[in-house]
Amino acid sequence: MSDGKLISFEGIEGVGKSTTINSIREYLEARGIEVYCTREPGGTKFGESLRDILLNKKSVITSEAELLIIFSIRNQHISEIIKPKLSQGTWVLCDRYIDASIAYQGFGKGVDLKKIKSLIELFTYNVMPDLTVFFDLKYEIAKKRFPKNKNKDRFEILDSEFFNKVYDGYMYQIKEHDNRISIINANADKKNVFNQITLLLDKKFSFLYK
Ligand code: TMP
Repeated sequence: MSDGKLISFEGIEGVGKSTTINSIREYLEARGIEVYCTREPGGTKFGESLRDILLNKKSVITSEAELLIIFSIRNQHISEIIKPKLSQGTWVLCDRYIDASIAYQGFGKGVDLKKIKSLIELFTYNVMPDLTVFFDLKYEIAKKRFPKNKNKDRFEILDSEFFNKVYDGYMYQIKEHDNRISIINANADKKNVFNQITLLLDKKFSFLYK
């Protein structure tokens, strides 16, 4: 049996990743593919508990401590879920992965990129996405989609300056990994966004569909 594929979905908040991932799951399942949806930070019992601590703004945390928590969560996620699923031939759809650390902790919070790249090299066991879909939407538009009256988390309270830096971080990753990361225009309705992604999938993987 051949290994499954890892597809990650990235973008700033409010770009509509989560709803789209579910439709993509259905699209792939209809083509005979076993699919597992997961997310970062999170994905395991351990990771989901740490996610709560990480996103909760009650505690003070340095940017590097934040980075290390995220990699602790990621390392567990890869070992417990992602690697075993891929080796069973399951396709893993992951809501955020390594590019978010470069964008948020690196560009957004100013952590040295060398440190983040070392963590990627040392603690992700070469588990790289086969495809990363970047939902392209600028903060000024995305923020209009933020839910009103929601109790905002550690990241959601940050301002446009932060999210513009995060966006630049994603642009940096896209330039560095243009073979892996594809951009879709997220300033469109759900159907259009879905169609853009299925086009990408068909171009890259259709020969693997049963
Ligand atoms: P979510 O609410 O979009 O699932 O993600 C929670 C937050 O975690 C989001 O604001 C981005 C942040 N995050 C990082 O800062 N670095 C990372 O490596 C990942 C995976 C997420």
